[in-house]
Amino acid sequence: MSTKRIGVLTSGGDCPGLNAVLRGIFCSAEELGWEVIGFRDGYEGMLPEGGDTMTLTRENTASIMQTGGTILGTTNKGHFTSKVAGGDRMTISEEVISRASRTCQELNLSAIIAIGGDGSMNTALQLYRAGFPMIGVPKTIDNDLEATAMTFGFDSAVACVTDALDRLHTTAASHKRLLVVQVMGRHAGWIALMGGIAGAADIILIPEIPFSLERVAEFVQRRDAAGHKSTMLVVAEGARSQHGQQFRKQASSGEWRLGGVGEMLVNEIEARTGKETRICVLGHLQRGGDPTSLDRILGTRFGVKAVQLAREEKFGTMVSYQNDTVLEVPIADAVHRLKRVPPDCQLVETARAVGISFGD
Ligand code: F6P
Repeated sequence: MSTKRIGVLTSGGDCPGLNAVLRGIFCSAEELGWEVIGFRDGYEGMLPEGGDTMTLTRENTASIMQTGGTILGTTNKGHFTSKVAGGDRMTISEEVISRASRTCQELNLSAIIAIGGDGSMNTALQLYRAGFPMIGVPKTIDNDLEATAMTFGFDSAVACVTDALDRLHTTAASHKRLLVVQVMGRHAGWIALMGGIAGAADIILIPEIPFSLERVAEFVQRRDAAGHKSTMLVVAEGARSQHGQQFRKQASSGEWRLGGVGEMLVNEIEARTGKETRICVLGHLQRGGDPTSLDRILGTRFGVKAVQLAREEKFGTMVSYQNDTVLEVPIADAVHRLKRVPPDCQLVETARAVGISFGD
């Protein structure tokens, strides 16, 4: 058994379960007698001479399974950004690639495990094509990567939405109000759909099913007429009306971010129905906090599989969860492919069958 040294990094937005992956990588690498070097702040940690790194040890991974965030730090900006707003792809500069290559040679890494979403996998693919021994681990709380049936972090986000709805139901009922709960989901409405079903929402609005304000208002009025005290509406940040675009706001940095659909709904619903309406934007609450047991297990399985792929030198692959098995797929097949909610899928049918409106 030869001693190897592998690198690992977490990139893009954080989510619960990243530390479980890191622990899974460390523990299974330790079993093989391998060393694991973590790069700080995603790919950026590869740029300084010798790398900005921390060695993963028994001590610093001992109690991270149950914690959210990432002990390595992360960023969705910087020199390795390969995906910009609107989904456009960018090529990483030669200079950046050669600095990262020098670091990896200095550290004598035999594999680099990159944990991240679609943009980060696109970066991993570019590095792989430039000769780096890359292995990918998919991460997105939005659960919108086609190449894997599930990603860790998603279940924790759904649990957060469910818990929020449980709390909001009681206050909404006491005041006979409508509550608009805006959740994450840029291109895909999985969090809104699953969280909405689990939290007994009355209306769920997702990017895949453009809504009509008239239909939403009619539905609210019908509920009032039927004697329901309150109405719970869950909307994904990327949802849009049948006539409109996604709602975006420009930050002071000039960057465009999704947001505003919830506020628009509050104003329109109040104006159309006279029903007192309030908004709750869950935002980054969904990305923080402890991972659920499901995410801890999935994260551990992904970490262990990534080390196995490193051992088998299956570079250019990404771990993927399919039919209760963690296997590998080429990173090239995984990027650029979004998994969106099919409007006629069984989950949507189930929601409709229990009286949930999609505003269509
Ligand atoms: O991709 C996950 C996600 O949480 C989106 O749903 C959200 O729009 C975005 O990240 C927010 O990212 P940040 O605020 O960290 O830039």
